[in-house]
Amino acid sequence: MTNSDVNILAIESSCDETAAALVRNGREVLSNVIYSQIDLHTLYGGVVPEIASRKHIEKINQVIEKALKDADFSLEDVDAVAVTYGPGLVGALLVGVAEAKAIAFAAKKPLVGVHHIEGHICANYIENKELEPPFLCLVASGGHTHFVLIKDYCSYEVIGRTRDDAAGEAFDKVARAIELGYPGGPKLEKLAREGNPKAIAFPRANIDGAKYDCSFSGLKSAVLNHINSCKMKGEEVNRADIAASFQDAVIDSLTSRAMMAVEEFGVNRFAIAGGVASNGAIREAFEKVCKEKGIEFYKPSPIFCTDNAAMIGVAGYYEYIKGTRHGWDLNAVPNLKLVSR
Ligand code: KG4
Ligand code: ZN
Repeated sequence: MTNSDVNILAIESSCDETAAALVRNGREVLSNVIYSQIDLHTLYGGVVPEIASRKHIEKINQVIEKALKDADFSLEDVDAVAVTYGPGLVGALLVGVAEAKAIAFAAKKPLVGVHHIEGHICANYIENKELEPPFLCLVASGGHTHFVLIKDYCSYEVIGRTRDDAAGEAFDKVARAIELGYPGGPKLEKLAREGNPKAIAFPRANIDGAKYDCSFSGLKSAVLNHINSCKMKGEEVNRADIAASFQDAVIDSLTSRAMMAVEEFGVNRFAIAGGVASNGAIREAFEKVCKEKGIEFYKPSPIFCTDNAAMIGVAGYYEYIKGTRHGWDLNAVPNLKLVSR
């Protein structure tokens, strides 16, 4: 550790992962601890907000203690405490925010609130040391599907977003419809490997006058209609073909917009982020279209795609060196917007 190093203790609790990490100089992950509640929520077929909050409060101190221990750090060695303060489940966010405030207050460290989506984008800086703005990024998670222009560190412009369901939400709902259970994304991806992506022509929606916006609720309805019509005709419901054809429609919607955007905004780097970005077929499809267009393609390892605190530590670092500080009145903001600045 040198005097000029900036070490951020980061906390993430916006949904169903209780996470803490130590990040040095925005690019080096010294520890990354994630307690996933997924098994607990699987019993209910989705995230139960009150259970998530209760589990966060039970686990958060242990997770932070382990993050410090794994990095061989004490609180005195930390330069700032970064925490996700939105968007997310309010009760879940409050646990992380209250914890971060208590630690920062007691240890007399600055507090930096971080936008969860900014964290997902910044996950790309961890393993791609050469990546710098400007670039375009697709953030696709359970709650968001955003096309974002990263103009500079901490400077974002959302150029498109979903009008209804997020991509991950569509994966989860379709997975439920074909009885795969929760969490839907990874299970659907696995089943899709056995199916034919061209078997069923599911729709690819376009939004008039907003070419980077997308919509997945029509696609989800088309899947439900297909299942009903098979049942009514007494035909076999081929779940693998449905999974593969649905995934293919999502891939088409996302890659076509991405390639339009790189052309319009004249950037030669494209990144993906968020839980859906851990999908192997989506990663391969982006790799292919970017290669064809001569665009550099970036993706975080799957562990940095789904919710984690390392990404919050990276975003927290760039906010910290830019001068962002939050007061002891920092609150959870469940619908926090990623504003252009
Ligand atoms: O980023 P994330 O962990 O949490 C949110 O911020 O929402 O994303 C979770 C979402 C879920 O909807 C999940 O089904 C989806 O990401 N997901 C996937 C895959 N792994 C996770 N979707 C498609 N394929 C996957 N392999
Ligand atoms: Zn997330």
